[in-house]
Formats: sequence, C-alpha cells, structure tokens
Amino acid sequence: MSPMNTTVVILAAGLGTRMRSKRAKVLHRAGGLTLVEHVVSAAAAVAPADRTIAVTGHQADEVEAVLEPQGIGFVRQVGQKGTGHALAACKERLENQDGLLMVLYGDTPLLSPVTLRKLRDLQSASGAAATLITTTLQDPSGYGRVLLNSKGDVTAIVEEKAATPEQKSIQVINSGIYCFQAPLLWRHIVELTPNSASGELYLTDMAEILTRHGHRVGALHIDDPDELLGINTRIELADADRVLRERKCRELMLAGVTIERPETVTIDTHVRVGVDTVVEPFARLLGMTEIGEECRVGAGAILESAVLEDRVVVAPYTLVANSRIDTGAQVGPFARLRMEAHVGPDARVGNFVELKKAKLGKGAKSQHLTYLGDAEIGAGSNIGAGTITCNYDGEKKHRTTIGERAFIGSNSTLVAPVEIGPDTYVGAGSVITDAVPSGALALGRGRQVVKPGWVKSRKNKAANKSE
Ligand code: UD1
Ligand code: CA
Repeated sequence: MSPMNTTVVILAAGLGTRMRSKRAKVLHRAGGLTLVEHVVSAAAAVAPADRTIAVTGHQADEVEAVLEPQGIGFVRQVGQKGTGHALAACKERLENQDGLLMVLYGDTPLLSPVTLRKLRDLQSASGAAATLITTTLQDPSGYGRVLLNSKGDVTAIVEEKAATPEQKSIQVINSGIYCFQAPLLWRHIVELTPNSASGELYLTDMAEILTRHGHRVGALHIDDPDELLGINTRIELADADRVLRERKCRELMLAGVTIERPETVTIDTHVRVGVDTVVEPFARLLGMTEIGEECRVGAGAILESAVLEDRVVVAPYTLVANSRIDTGAQVGPFARLRMEAHVGPDARVGNFVELKKAKLGKGAKSQHLTYLGDAEIGAGSNIGAGTITCNYDGEKKHRTTIGERAFIGSNSTLVAPVEIGPDTYVGAGSVITDAVPSGALALGRGRQVVKPGWVKSRKNKAANKSE
C-alpha cells in the first residue's frame, strides 16, 4: 500500500478575544515568530506546501502576508462561527481529495514535527475514521474534555462551558490536533449543528457524529503536554515564548555554543550561531542574525538581523541592527551599528561610537565617542575620539569618504560631502569642509593665542581700581 496523501488545514481565522488585543491572535509572537508560522513549519513534516491550507478571517491580509513565503494555500472563512465552520469553509476546495486530512489550530506553536508524523502513522495503520491527540493535564481548565469508552476510543468531546461538574473533573483533554479519513470527514461535516450556548459550529462535535455512524475515533495520548499548549491569553503566550527560547538555547548548546545563564538569553528561532561562540548573560539575538565561530557576544548586547563572521567580539551593551562585522573585528562596549553598517576584518569600534550606513575598512579604528554616517573609511585609518560626520544638511544626506591610512585628529567635524585622501592627517579640532588631497595635513581651526603674564596683570588692574 502506498502511503496515503496527507493534506493539512490550519485554522487561523479567529480574533482570540481572550488576548484582549486588536491584533489577530495568531499574529502574536513567541520565539520571535508569529504563532501561526510555528504551526506551518511543523506541518511541513507531514504535507508539502501545496497540500497545506490556512483558513484566515480576522486580519486575513496580514496573516496571509506573513505566511505567503512558505508557499501554502489560503481559504477565507467569512464570519467566525467556530472551528467546525472554519474547516467547513474548505469543503468546496478539498472534498474530492482522498487520503488523510490533518487539522491543526494556529494557536499551538510548540507542536513538534515528530508528533505530527506519529499521528499520521497511527491514523494510517489503525483504519479508524479519525485519530486525535490527547494528553492529561493537572489543570485542564479551558480545554475540551475527551470522553473515552472502555477500549480507549473517543466517544465525544465536551467543551468546558458545556461540561457537567463530573465531566469537568476529567483531566484528559483535546489538543485540537486531528487526523481524519478525508472522505468521511467531508461526508459528515454537514451534520454539525450550532452549539446551543454559543451558536458556533464546533469541530469537536465530529467525534460524536462519526461515532454515531458506527465509525471509530482513536486517541493518540502524549505524555508531555508542553507541546500541545494552546495560546488563549498573554500569560500562555509568555509560557510558549519561554519554552521556545529554552528549546533554542538547548539546540545551540548541543551544537557547540556556550551560553552563560541561558535562562536570561533571548534567541529567535531562525538565528544561527557557530561552534565555540560564547553568548554572555542577557544577550538578545534576534531576527535573521547569523554568527560565526569563536565569537563572543557580550552581556546585554542586542543583535538584530546582524551578520558576524568568525572570531568577532561584540562587547557588552552594544546594539547591532541590519549590519555586518567581519572576521576578527571588535565592537563595543556601548556601540551602535545600524542600517547596513559594515565593520571590516580586524577593525575596532569602541564605546559610544555610532555607525550608520558606514563602512570601516580592514584594521581601521574608531574607538571613542564618534558618529560616522553615510561614510566610507579606508583600511588602516584611525578616527580620533569625538569625530563627527555632518552628513545631514536639513534636507539631504551626504557622503564622507576617507582614504586608507588616514589619521583624523580628535574632535574633528567632517562636513559632508567631503573627501579625505589616503595617507592624510587632519589636525585635532578641525572643521573640514574641503577635500584633503593624498598625503596632506589639513587644519581647520582657530589659531591659539598666548598672552604671557596676563593673569597677574589682570589682578594688578583690579587692585588699582578698588583703591
Ligand atoms: C479548541 C477546542 C478545544 C481544545 C482546544 C485546544 C473547539 C470547539 N474547541 O478550543 O476542545 O481543547 O482548542 O487548544 O474546537 N478559529 C477559526 N475560526 C473560528 C474559530 C476559531 O479559524 O471561527 C481558529 C482560531 O484562530 C484558533 C483555533 O481555531 O487558531 C482554535 O480556536 P480557539 O477559539 O482558540 O479554540 P479553544 O476555545 O481554545
Ligand atoms: Ca485555543
């Protein structure tokens, strides 16, 4: 028997009232990604993108934009009338497909691909009409309770609101992850009726409907309830975020990264870190950040979509966003790199230095209290403390170009557009408005005046007056 085709439907149309948010629930983030992105990633373990559909409704445009890059399909649910209604919206599109239909909820971001494969395999092997994932919770409140017969098959799912006190004490809960024989699901989904209390169509009622028709509904019981967490409130959102961060740190540590006090460190799902890199406490590695081997990321540093080659040191409390640091370079403490800043190999950027759209060549140094914006600095140059590129005239941005091995004295003001050639000197405290040719010394400051004996003569004058 060839393995059965599996189609996945992810329900992501609800608003999520309990979040108390204007944003659709599945767009909230945990582990640096939206909740629904995590579910779509897990689904890839059982179905290719062209057999995966997300049902959207609330803020459908935004949800679809987030998922578009994954190449999956979309069905719109018009009016959010419950999970059964959401799945029924796919009927026209999917009812002629045979094989298996797996249904996932977009608010369960901790699902593992392994579990989904297990569910598919159990459903394929058992011949049941459907199989759903259950677990036992110490505190099952908020979840649907699963009623089982003596054989361990599911006879019904009772939602918390409709449960009798006796049913409420049941600790076996519905995870909201189901695998159906597709033809049976589509034949019987029309039999869902509105819940008497809420008026919604509950997908959970399918268990009872299928059982009533003499079909079997099996349960796959999972011992670790963590991965089935459904996010309904911001408290659960924080719980999921913590679990995802822990997982990411463990994965990196097992792959050869040292993380000091991992419980304080925040690393997004897609971040990559090379072996023997050390991450100090309270660092945040976000977005598409990529870090090479043998780097050090200092305490409290924040790297967002940053690229670090090998043996880079980012000292504590440094911010790097959408920027790149080449092999052997050192940046910080308290430095800020943003908007495609590029620090070349073995270059140095020190405290209170900001680079914006600026490139520092190989081995160049800018160690203290400096702003370099829209600038290119040649290899081996030294930028003195307090240097400022005046890149903005109030209307437009202008470039500053500095050649190789230039020496810019402390507290220089470089008024762009301006070009400073290679092997040049700029005297400390200069205001540079004109080009400095290769090999020249440029001075742009008031001359010092010295008046010998001035202090004493002033005192004498004052004494004469008061007599
Ligand atoms: C649901 C289950 C419950 C289970 C729990 C597991 C039902 C009736 N109940 O409850 O048995 O224990 O999940 O986490 O299914 N959605 C739509 N359209 C709608 C309504 C919801 O697409 O009209 C989507 C939501 O965006 C969400 C998912 O379905 O991603 C689940 O909806 P939610 O309201 O969170 O269901 P629960 O009350 O948690
Ligand atoms: Ca939920």
